[in-house]
Amino acid sequence: MAKDTLTITDNRTGQNYEVPIEDGTIKAIDLRQIKVSSDDFGLMTYDPAFMNTAACRSAITYIDGDRGILRYRGYPIEQLAEQASFLEVAYLLGEGELPTRAQLDTWTETIKFHTYVHTNITKFLEGFRYDAHPMGMMLGAVGALSTFYPDAKNIHDPANRYLQRVRLLAKGPTIAAFAFRHSRGLPFVFPDNDLDYIGNFVNMTFSIGGRHKANKVLQRALEILLILHADHEQNCSTSAVRAVGSSHVDPFSAISAGIAALYGPLHGGANEAVLLMLDEIGEKKNIPKFIEEVKAGRGRLMGFGHRVYKSYDPRAKLIKRVADDVFRETGLNPKLEIALELERIALEDEYFIKRKLYPNVDFYSGLIYQAMGYPTEYFTVLFALGRMPGWLAQWEEMLLDKDQKIARPRQVFIGHGERPFVPIDKR
Ligand code: ACO
Repeated sequence: MAKDTLTITDNRTGQNYEVPIEDGTIKAIDLRQIKVSSDDFGLMTYDPAFMNTAACRSAITYIDGDRGILRYRGYPIEQLAEQASFLEVAYLLGEGELPTRAQLDTWTETIKFHTYVHTNITKFLEGFRYDAHPMGMMLGAVGALSTFYPDAKNIHDPANRYLQRVRLLAKGPTIAAFAFRHSRGLPFVFPDNDLDYIGNFVNMTFSIGGRHKANKVLQRALEILLILHADHEQNCSTSAVRAVGSSHVDPFSAISAGIAALYGPLHGGANEAVLLMLDEIGEKKNIPKFIEEVKAGRGRLMGFGHRVYKSYDPRAKLIKRVADDVFRETGLNPKLEIALELERIALEDEYFIKRKLYPNVDFYSGLIYQAMGYPTEYFTVLFALGRMPGWLAQWEEMLLDKDQKIARPRQVFIGHGERPFVPIDKR
């Protein structure tokens, strides 16, 4: 019977070491005993971008990147997208189980109760320039919420953490809608708690002179998109939330770090970048030239490729179906044709096949958001609203994990050795 250990021979010293293997991993700290001399610091692993390092144990989201599987708390994403509401999924991610009807009713009412924001928030949102990027407004405003709720610092009290999680889920859409209205020069619309979570958000965003006339197909499509974005295990923004939260700062500050990470074009900002790319391509006949440029290393095919998925992103498959529902209501987005053709060509091209580059969640989501009436720079805000339950669940899990400490990676120092200071007139 094979032992669950790894035997390492250090060829520098000839010494053998045996380290335990648990859950398909070895503990990096077990390598520290491997030294060439007693004053040696000990062996470390070098893993920029965490390509092969598990930074936590998590029970929230499971991904099998080769087989295109995504599950929240064990439930397949396909079933959740089809049958659950966004608040049900948020409850599932945070509490670990699907709510009973009574639990869901209480949860929904609790969230509704916290949708309002202090009116001073409207004052500092008004201070942003008319053309401020809504993600910049969002991350600033969510970070600023910590000053309205100083009690949020009390992160060791479970009831207090629950309250802040509710506040973030409830006030996220209000702030997001305010950011939208600011860009348009429209007056802010406060929450209407007769509406459901999605309906209220859409109303705060689009209503002019009375309640916005709801289109149930579009609202359900938006809800599905938010569900598909709700968590994705240890991605860049979630890792940011965990790392910043590991300093025991309040959750508003930690989540605002997640929003900042999501803003980047290699992460959530990719949905915006896809639309800019489609605009730049302009017409179908320009696609082959564009693909050649990408293959020559001049630019990337945005919305393609993923660190974990090496097959079709299951979310992208579901989003294509949502797109059909939406375009039946709104008419076809003319850029869809270019996107479909790009996908067809890329999936047949040796460059993309060899590198296992498939459409990711962002490839089609932007086209849908655009058809729903959201401007390009707003797409990542919608992603942030969807990801909020995941960030909060991961933050809570990190705080309760006895293995976790303040996140503090090591480095391999490659700079100068000690050298004497040179006065300015001698340089
Ligand atoms: N277009 C063209 N080539 C690509 C692309 C792409 N979109 N993505 C990866 N490649 C190539 C790289 O050039 C590299 O080729 P090489 O081996 O010849 O050097 C190879 O594929 C591997 O790429 P890496 O950058 O090493 O892969 P990594 O896992 O670090 O990056 C990432 C993943 C950032 C998502 C990347 O695929 C990318 O930049 N995609 C475009 C941006 C995007 O769509 N981001 C959204 C991701 S999903 C999300 O965050 C919600």
